[in-house]
Amino acid sequence: MSEKEIIAKSISKKFPQKFFPKISYMEVLRDITFEIKKGQKVALIGGNGSGKTTLLKTLAGIYFPDQGKLEIRGINPIDYPEKIAKITSLISPSLDFQRKLTLRQTLKFFYNILYPHGDMDFALSILKEMHMLHMLDKRLEGFSEGQKAITRIAIGLMKQPEILFLDEVTTGLDINRKEDLITFIHDNFKDNTIVMVDHDPVVVERICDSYILLSQGIIVKQGKAKDIPNELAYKYEVRTLMKKRYSYDEIVMLFPDQADDVLVDGHVVYFRAANEDELYSIIERLKLITNDIVRYVVSTVDLENIYLALKPNAIKQIRNAETKKGLPNKTPTIEELQEIIKMFGIMILPEKRKNKK
Ligand SMILES: Nc1ncnc2c1ncn2[C@@H]1O[C@H](COP(=O)(O)OP(=O)(O)O)[C@@H](O)[C@H]1O
Ligand SMILES: [Mg+2]
Repeated sequence: MSEKEIIAKSISKKFPQKFFPKISYMEVLRDITFEIKKGQKVALIGGNGSGKTTLLKTLAGIYFPDQGKLEIRGINPIDYPEKIAKITSLISPSLDFQRKLTLRQTLKFFYNILYPHGDMDFALSILKEMHMLHMLDKRLEGFSEGQKAITRIAIGLMKQPEILFLDEVTTGLDINRKEDLITFIHDNFKDNTIVMVDHDPVVVERICDSYILLSQGIIVKQGKAKDIPNELAYKYEVRTLMKKRYSYDEIVMLFPDQADDVLVDGHVVYFRAANEDELYSIIERLKLITNDIVRYVVSTVDLENIYLALKPNAIKQIRNAETKKGLPNKTPTIEELQEIIKMFGIMILPEKRKNKK
């Protein structure tokens, strides 16, 4: 278990800027250094645009680093991309499908074209575990986002990769399917190395043993996955759909204790709770205005809005790490975060995903 599986030494990656591609670059990864041992399961976390996907794609040999050295099992992906492709799999939400093909035809397509070493039976067993076998002869045009996510997982895991790179694979999955996937990974990839991006702290804690926190393309923190909850100021989010649009001030009049922990976005109000007691007290108050509410959903806090959820100490550490590397502080302070919540309410909501039809 102590073999080194992935070694990254001072990796940097630049992308040309949109408007001045020849003269101006944006550094998306800077001086990234870490080691991952065989069998380790690592979560990449960080805010939107912090470089998580770019790092995963670089590890998978899809992007080449501009500087630094990368070794996967002692192989540099630049030298032997086909060797890396054979043992790794990147599952990413950007994989699109032919809408008119059925699930069975889609699997066959990827099996024949991309993965001559793939195992069709294994793909079918994934579908069985994820309760998707009944969809085999349905066209993908009718699939929900969650069903497409499972299709991507089946395609990506079909070749039984030794190293898994998973980019937001549980996004769009309902709670049952998330559990199915976690169980499937535990049962089938216990000894495999996994590097994954996921916004659900529960998924991260259940699958991963460690985490790497990125901010502006640098590693600002590393630690054990089981310690993530201790870094979070909030544990739960109550997303409440109101019958009418509320302003922030109106909501704070109704929930005076929640002034610093509420986001108002028109009909939707997000309450954040640090623990079960706070959660129950929010729900008790919601019960008092039940006639104004269409519905509410309780979930664990989303790591995509990580800076909103972190404790002040963790934010300070990130800012210190950024300053040390000579970066302008883009991570907001706690005071700035509270200002943002009060002024805009909607500022830090997750980016709306484009639904490609
Ligand atoms: N192919 C690309 N060309 C130019 N800029 C890119 C490209 N891919 C990502 N970026 C930029 O790099 C930054 C990091 O992106 P990404 O790695 O996707 O972040 P994350 O996955 O953490 O949200 C973003 O500012 C994004 O706009
Ligand atoms: Mg990403």
